[in-house]
Amino acid sequence: MRFGRFLVPSGLLALAALSTPALAQYPNKPVTIIVPFAAGGPTDVVARLVGQHMSRTLGQTFVIENIGGAGGSLGMTRVAQAAPDGYIIGVGNMGTQSAAPALYPNLKYDPAKSFAQVGIVNFTPQAVVSKKGLPPATLKEFILYARERGSALTYGHAGVGSISHVSGLVFNTKFGLKPNLIPYRGTGPVLQDMVAGQIDYTVDQSLNVIPQIKAGTIKVYAIAAPARLKSLPDVPTTKEAGEDFIFSAWNAMVAPQGTPPDIVAKLVDALNKALDDPAIQASYVELGSSAPMGADRGPAGLQKLVESEVARITPVIKAAGVTAE
Ligand code: MLT
Repeated sequence: MRFGRFLVPSGLLALAALSTPALAQYPNKPVTIIVPFAAGGPTDVVARLVGQHMSRTLGQTFVIENIGGAGGSLGMTRVAQAAPDGYIIGVGNMGTQSAAPALYPNLKYDPAKSFAQVGIVNFTPQAVVSKKGLPPATLKEFILYARERGSALTYGHAGVGSISHVSGLVFNTKFGLKPNLIPYRGTGPVLQDMVAGQIDYTVDQSLNVIPQIKAGTIKVYAIAAPARLKSLPDVPTTKEAGEDFIFSAWNAMVAPQGTPPDIVAKLVDALNKALDDPAIQASYVELGSSAPMGADRGPAGLQKLVESEVARITPVIKAAGVTAE
């Protein structure tokens, strides 16, 4: 577990205290954002990025609490079961909010019903990456190499039901790869071990891997998106690399179901202000992410996405015959 604190300049706190009674009511003490994965991974990075901005907008300290385990479902269970007063919220992802129900028969939350949706935080394509020392130079060469070696290669993921687990399931099944699956509490630690040469490959969010790709500490074969990323102009898409594999991830902010509508509205407004900030938009471009726009914004956009993603991913997982319990 790791905690992070965003301190608000005292002038802003004073301003918040003097403003409208509604603002004085909420938030009048620190807000905890539960990140259901280890610190340093993609969910943690975006939660800190928008959380810091929301802290300035709402004039209150936002604290990050990392509760990893069970592919993120442990942390999201804590959010679902928290008091619905706006002081514990969470940032989940496509795994926790769409894949988990198909993988955990005893899951203690329903992504479509147990939360007051705040909004989509970002969309990010997956990238196929390996440790630096692997010999293949292209995606096609990598697939042949991995197929020949089977379980002699290790695949690191963020736990059963996480995005890296599900995207790996689809990728490995499609190309006939049978690696040794190694679960972690997030892809931040997966990447650390890959840089250290202890994990062979993964399919993870560009958000997480771009800094290491740019530093030359890991190898990238392709971005699983229809178009190249501005921040990685030399890296081919999977289609350009000759394969048909597209996989887009997303993160989402939620509060416990029953949180009063005026509190949810403040969180929605603060999240939207963060998404409109040019500095956050520039960070998103640098990390290969994009912000939700138009109808994708806010609670309705997130509710629609959760329902459509549960319907899309459940049959894929059922067909693969995987469960976590
Ligand atoms: C995932 O694979 O679900 C995420 O990359 C986990 C994380 O944010 O660490």
